[in-house]
Amino acid sequence: MGKFEVLDHPLIQHKLTIIRNKDCGTREFREVVNEIAELMVYEVCRDMPLEDIEVETPVATAVEKRLAGKKVVVVPILRAGLGMVDGVLELLPAAKVGHIGMYRDEETLQPHEYFVKMPDHLDKREMIIVDPMLATGGSAIAAVDALKKRGAKSIRFVCLVAAPEGVKALREAHPDIDVYAAALDDHLNENGYIVPGLGDAGDRLFGTK
Ligand code: URA
Repeated sequence: MGKFEVLDHPLIQHKLTIIRNKDCGTREFREVVNEIAELMVYEVCRDMPLEDIEVETPVATAVEKRLAGKKVVVVPILRAGLGMVDGVLELLPAAKVGHIGMYRDEETLQPHEYFVKMPDHLDKREMIIVDPMLATGGSAIAAVDALKKRGAKSIRFVCLVAAPEGVKALREAHPDIDVYAAALDDHLNENGYIVPGLGDAGDRLFGTK
């Protein structure tokens, strides 16, 4: 079973409170979402595989460590996931970025992919899916499906605010992946919003209504 971790470092909690406030404007919201994503990715990468590499220091030759294999892939779920990409890239500047866009079928209410663009060799890469809100889990589950279908084997899902309902659904559908949140909130309301949450993350990031 993959793990579920709430990364509740004091700096993360402090910054999350800033963006929960309904009076936090677009500019600050954007900045702080990226700051939280940057702080989270440090922990999200804690167990990434390493390999030996010989390095010549000015003093001696040594065998040291570097991240193993091909470049990490950061995968924002459109559109709100885009708000976390720059923060993640601060710590993983050489990472590739794959995009997943999904829409919800009006009849079945199931999410469907309308846009997926990934780098090659997903089977040899560490994948980090980012989406600020894990609500029902529907799009998270579909995003993991989309990556697995394309060969991905090692997947982490990173959100800012999770609802218990979404965590349960995602872990039941994909028990092998690791799930990280900055906060585990109380519940989903009848409109599908996380309570207390922070509202519609996409609208708040992009200044839309
Ligand atoms: N998506 C959001 O942006 N906010 C929620 O509270 C739930 C889903």
